[in-house]
Amino acid sequence: MIIRKLAALTAAAAMVFAACSSTGGTPAASTAAAKGCTVGVSWNNYDQERWKKADEPAIKKAVEAVSGGKYIKTDARDNAEQQITDITTLINQGAKALIVLAKDGVGIKPAIKAAEDAGIPVIAYDRLIEDPKVFYITFDNKKVGTIMAQVITKLVPTGNYAIIKGDPGDANAKFLRDGMDEGGLKALVDSGKVKIVFEQNTPNWDTTGATNEMQAALNGTTPVNNIQAVLSENDGMATGVVAALDAVGLKIPVSGQDGDAAALNRVALGTQSVSVWKNAFALGETAGAVAEQLCGGTKPADIKAPADLPAAAAPAAAGAQDFTTPGGNTVKSITLTPTPITKDNLKDVIDAGWVTKDVVCSKVPAGTVAACG
Ligand code: GAL
Repeated sequence: MIIRKLAALTAAAAMVFAACSSTGGTPAASTAAAKGCTVGVSWNNYDQERWKKADEPAIKKAVEAVSGGKYIKTDARDNAEQQITDITTLINQGAKALIVLAKDGVGIKPAIKAAEDAGIPVIAYDRLIEDPKVFYITFDNKKVGTIMAQVITKLVPTGNYAIIKGDPGDANAKFLRDGMDEGGLKALVDSGKVKIVFEQNTPNWDTTGATNEMQAALNGTTPVNNIQAVLSENDGMATGVVAALDAVGLKIPVSGQDGDAAALNRVALGTQSVSVWKNAFALGETAGAVAEQLCGGTKPADIKAPADLPAAAAPAAAGAQDFTTPGGNTVKSITLTPTPITKDNLKDVIDAGWVTKDVVCSKVPAGTVAACG
């Protein structure tokens, strides 16, 4: 099945290649008047709140800000095989640059290579794709894990921990976990102060999956429910974790990431300690702008992040940097900066227009959280 899909992809890519001008593979289809390209975005899914709310509108806006720029998209609904087909579809529909939120950063490789061989630049969006030619645009994912560990271990320096990790096919799950160790978790485990009593990956970063895992974690200790902290790798899973904790009457420190509305409300209510916020408006804007630059012929090494990104999210360096992947590829990359959101700085997400005060402060008792009044 996959082979048939790849054959179709190669044929589609060859057609695009044939349509390219002789000037280094720049697609001839983009007329002289219109500088912009059609950018095809292959979404893995829209399951987490961020993709529709922030990433997608920001990419679309940045693509359409370039005269002639056009945004097209597909949704693989969490199906890795479907995502391979989707890439062919986008190419057939005229995409001259691709932005891919990969379901499986290794399984998607042949489709990515076929597109690149046809002169179509590919951006690995948010999640790594193990391919030497992709342009990788993401947040500092290790740092996300480091922040989670720092916040949670400060609150719980000794005790039993559960670690609810993300999808095993998403490189971010492992980057986060490595970041946790770097953020002090390993030292505490090595010294015997912290014991990891449960650690598991969660297919599709699924909320219900996380509830089930948390229940298993709580049932697995002697006595039961003997867990003092949870490192959950994102907010959607934290929703599931907190549901399981609630069910047994436990209120303990829990981490997350993404700045989901429900999670920020939990931070205000005190049922989640931190949501590491990745300003996905900034990430989407960067990807849309870079897709247009690449498609217009700018070399990966000369790519720059937009100059107007919010200071807190901006990359340490505006220009493309080398990033060495776990698979040993060195790719050009722009890495944005994540922000920890705790009870103390909820104002930042409200002021940034990320979420309204009403949502963050829903049911929060007066006088308990500064941002809520
Ligand atoms: C990860 C991403 C997280 C979260 C998760 C859910 O790749 O880094 O921010 O959105 O996917 O799909």
